[in-house]
Amino acid sequence: MYDFQPDASLARPELYRQLVQAAAALTEGESDGVANMANVAALMGEYLPRINWAGFYRVIDGDLVLGPFIGRPACIRIASGQGVCGTAAATGRTQLVDDVHAFPGHIACDAASESEIVVPIIRDGAVIAVIDIDSPEKARFDEDDAAGIEALAALLSNRI
Ligand code: SME
Repeated sequence: MYDFQPDASLARPELYRQLVQAAAALTEGESDGVANMANVAALMGEYLPRINWAGFYRVIDGDLVLGPFIGRPACIRIASGQGVCGTAAATGRTQLVDDVHAFPGHIACDAASESEIVVPIIRDGAVIAVIDIDSPEKARFDEDDAAGIEALAALLSNRI
């Protein structure tokens, strides 16, 4: 049994340090990317307060295809360049969106979502997937979240 006990009152850099450490331990030595994404989605759900969706989209034949996640059922395929996820995939850059309703082309999967962060996972210079997290609060994510999720993405680049 895995028993991680995140303390949501921790400062974000420390919370993310612990999340990345837990993800490293859970995915260590496991070659199956789906299993690793599934466990990391579950960890994000346990560690990150005030979110309503967290998971992965994988780049397959140039499109983003839904991967393991926690939250409500979501859009299955997103074209590169479309929405927040497709923008992160097309640019290779983290997208921090304080108000999803103000983001041109935002794709609404869960009507409860108000803010969002999407971080690309890059292997050998190419985007292979993105990590997407939604919150029901506006401006939920900041630069500490971006740095923490980017560290998680770097860990996962050769584990998914
Ligand atoms: N809002 C995303 C779509 C994915 S869902 O949030 C899970 C987007 O605009 O790309």
